Amino acid sequence: MTRQLHLNAFLMGVGHHEAAWRHERTDVRNLTDVKHFQRLAQLAERGKLDSVFFADGLAVGPRVKHNTQAIFEPITLLTAMATVTEHVGLIATATTGYIEPYTLARSFASLDHISGGRAGWNIVTSAGEDEAANFGVEGIPDHGGRYRRATEFVDVATALWDSWEDDALVLDEASGTFADTERVHRIDHDGEHFKVRGPLNTPRSVQGRPLLVQAGSSESGKDFAARYAEAIFTAQRSVADGKAFYRDVKARAVKFGRSADEVKILPGIVPFIGPTEDAARELEQQFTDLISPEYSLRQLSQMLGVDLTAHALDAPLPALPPIEQIQGNKSRYQLVKDLASSESLTVRQLIAKLGGGRGHRTFAGTAEQVADNLELWFSEGAADGFNIMPPYLPGGLEDFVEQVVPILQRRGLFRTDYTATTLRGHYGLAHRPSRYTVTAAETSA
Ligand SMILES: Cc1cc2nc3c(=O)[nH]c(=O)nc-3n(C[C@H](O)[C@H](O)[C@H](O)COP(=O)(O)O)c2cc1C
Repeated sequence: MTRQLHLNAFLMGVGHHEAAWRHERTDVRNLTDVKHFQRLAQLAERGKLDSVFFADGLAVGPRVKHNTQAIFEPITLLTAMATVTEHVGLIATATTGYIEPYTLARSFASLDHISGGRAGWNIVTSAGEDEAANFGVEGIPDHGGRYRRATEFVDVATALWDSWEDDALVLDEASGTFADTERVHRIDHDGEHFKVRGPLNTPRSVQGRPLLVQAGSSESGKDFAARYAEAIFTAQRSVADGKAFYRDVKARAVKFGRSADEVKILPGIVPFIGPTEDAARELEQQFTDLISPEYSLRQLSQMLGVDLTAHALDAPLPALPPIEQIQGNKSRYQLVKDLASSESLTVRQLIAKLGGGRGHRTFAGTAEQVADNLELWFSEGAADGFNIMPPYLPGGLEDFVEQVVPILQRRGLFRTDYTATTLRGHYGLAHRPSRYTVTAAETSA
């Protein structure tokens, strides 16, 4: 079979553009309306998309005066979306930072049961100072330390998902046997950050474990992703950068003893789609015109680790701290710094470029041009698929599903129907047996 794209819809409130909520094509009241999100899931499923995804953070942060908030906790919201869909995958962000692996493993196992095997976990380490302040931590937690905790966290969570073997549930009413206790295991983990006995109190779910997704792009982030992630979200602005990242992460996965194909790389794209290229550009400009500079400067200050809130809009960026001093999102810091210097942008021009997707590339054009661009990245070896980030919702997703998907399908680049029932299946990944399951071959050896 020819290689096909994987498409994830990265959903954010009423759209990714920071001014989306002010535009006439959106209704800000949708932010608290579960039906809005259920309709988005159904729309993604109509387009045969692999999955939908929500980002998350554990603080209000600097944006609340001039921008919208993600109101709902992602696993709760995706559970509501699971009840009105049958196929589309449901990926929730959850942190390894401030919670215990036992609690997280139980929530995802529950979502996987409820959705019939469609749960995915975007593993984040929570880089924000505002988040730290809600959990008794001062300042930004150290970058290396966050990834060390994340590594132990994922080891514990996956052991808990494995603690029930696939056939541990006996369900024999006649003998009164609910579970085969030989197949339900303690994990007895005792590490630097966590001490967990197990087993999990939720039996093994349809997929065994959720799809593991990650988005770190620093050196430690790429190693972490190469070791664990089955899908990787990344912000790459050019085909050349995309190809370099793709080759780098796949090579790292092979070094960790995995096959390069087990790791799907999905760069983000914010598509403005119009009947003509000019109309699409004009639409993008309408959103840019609604940007609040006060909000954008706060967001930029956070990305770059310097206070820009009083900086002149028509001046270039001031000198920035060296990357070694950045404890937050290192890869986004580098991306924004490179963008400003390579195109000699003033701060005003920079915030306009970042408005659509906070550093993810925006693309304005016809549906045909969007499809051409995705095909180019795919065929050049810069992507296995894409993280589609509609600038406004629901219209931006509707346009993608109704106009771009059929073109990709006609070109044989995307499925015309689901061929699997689980999220792992959509991403072409095999079911993983529990680590505690002894195979027949091992028994006879
Ligand atoms: C598409 C995408 C989505 C992300 N979603 C979240 C999120 O929901 N919450 C979060 O704390 N970080 C999120 N991140 C940030 C990453 O998890 C990671 O912290 C960031 O890429 C920096 O990693 P690095 O320091 O290894 O470069 C996201 C990143 C990308 C590219």
